Amino acid sequence: MYNDNPTIQDLNAKQIDEKKQGEVFGAEFAPKQAGEKRFYIESYGCQMNFSDSEIVASILGEAGYGPTRDMETADLILINTCSIREKAEETVRKRLRVFDKVKERQPGTMVGVLGCMAERLKSKFLEEEKLVDIVVGPDAYRDLPALVAGAEEGEKGVNVFLSREETYADINPVRLQSNGVTAFISIMRGCDNMCSFCVVPFTRGRERSRNAFSIVAEATDLFDRGFREVTLLGQNVDSYKWENPETGATVSFAELLTMVAAVDPDLRIRFSTSHPKDITDDVLYAMRDHENICKYIHLPVQSGNSRILDLMNRTYTREWYKDKVDRIYEIMPDCAISSDIIAGFCTETEAEHQETLSMIEYSNYSMSYMFFYSERPGTPAARKLEDDVPLEIKKRRLQEIINLQTEISRKHNLADVGKTFKVLIEGDSKKSDQDWKARNSQNKMVIFPKAAGKHRPGDYVTVTIHDATSATLFGKLVEA
Ligand code: SAH
Ligand code: SF4
Ligand code: F3S
Repeated sequence: MYNDNPTIQDLNAKQIDEKKQGEVFGAEFAPKQAGEKRFYIESYGCQMNFSDSEIVASILGEAGYGPTRDMETADLILINTCSIREKAEETVRKRLRVFDKVKERQPGTMVGVLGCMAERLKSKFLEEEKLVDIVVGPDAYRDLPALVAGAEEGEKGVNVFLSREETYADINPVRLQSNGVTAFISIMRGCDNMCSFCVVPFTRGRERSRNAFSIVAEATDLFDRGFREVTLLGQNVDSYKWENPETGATVSFAELLTMVAAVDPDLRIRFSTSHPKDITDDVLYAMRDHENICKYIHLPVQSGNSRILDLMNRTYTREWYKDKVDRIYEIMPDCAISSDIIAGFCTETEAEHQETLSMIEYSNYSMSYMFFYSERPGTPAARKLEDDVPLEIKKRRLQEIINLQTEISRKHNLADVGKTFKVLIEGDSKKSDQDWKARNSQNKMVIFPKAAGKHRPGDYVTVTIHDATSATLFGKLVEA
């Protein structure tokens, strides 16, 4: 879920639905009581950032700040930022102009920048953006109440300390903008890979895994509160490894999946993101053996060409990736695979681009997130390689990738026509409150007419598919 690139993502309807552009969460516009303090938060970037905003909401709640959807009456305006591409940072700067206007109208309102862009720019932010009061990196959210208190006294504050231990394991995230059915659980933080194009290792620090029991406890609590699906989050979930300090025993990702799957057969488990180099057969067997672990793997390929993959430092080749895809379909023929793809990385030739196109066909991705390369200051690629593919060519290659993926997605979905799926109802369809929006195990969105008064969000129902577009399946309830 990466949402800085609306013009390109608009071309793929599925991505629009996945996207939560600058999602705001909080209570409705209820009048403020005397002495009450409120924060307003917008989040950008990946699911991890959205999940972090829920941790922030919890920490601020403890400090007496309630959420609001109305920035005009907020005491504190927060923006949880993303640095993954230049466009993401431009979006944040634009939003800061809007917050500046609120500050002019409502003097005393504090503005805080959180997340990856805070980490990348650190105190430079306060020089560049005069009206920002606090800058807080992803590992320093526990310090927010103290920094906010300082800002109330007119003191600008920065904490961008990156930790080797922080996992916020003990914090119970506040699920404010929730559909009450699906939730994210952060299982690890940071990233120890050094994909040459990527800013994440610099903005989120070293990889660390969260206490497995606290993850199971969070999943259990969510289930007890009516949630029916959890997505385990990490930049590279397959390298999850938690050592129990009491026994010295370690829990692998495959074992963690099995532990969470045991919470209840009616709790669905998803996870993101898998790095092709680390996903093991044990993970695939755990998926195969548990009906409630969804048959869907987000397995970003980035490029289909081995020379480019080497320059990207992805540590696998085209052949190796193809073997991984074969293995997944061999163990789980009904599994859907999706991808992230970068067009026009440094020195990419036309022939190498063609290999990315053929990889989309080979892997038969159900969908992909597609981007053109955006050089990020300080990354290995920015330091060592020349960003030499002209923008026009990057855009054209990206368009070819999008066109092909849209066609493959359409075929992938049309192949489901006539099939019957167990789906989890998430809520009303966007277009009509006469239809439900649900998801099948393969993470495809399924729209179908409601049966009057019969079901609610959180229910599992059986649906037969009669039509499909590149983004959505359309079905009909199978009466029990
Ligand atoms: N940890 C995840 C991805 C995190 S970033 C993983 O390893 O798959 C999400 C996606 O953004 C990446 O998969 C990549 O496709 C894209 N991306 C990252 N840096 C980029 C850059 N500099 N330019 C364009 N796209 C980029
Ligand atoms: Fe970035 Fe690579 Fe880490 Fe993903 S695995 S966050 S792309 S460095
Ligand atoms: Fe963006 Fe940071 Fe996520 S750079 S994609 S918000 S880890």
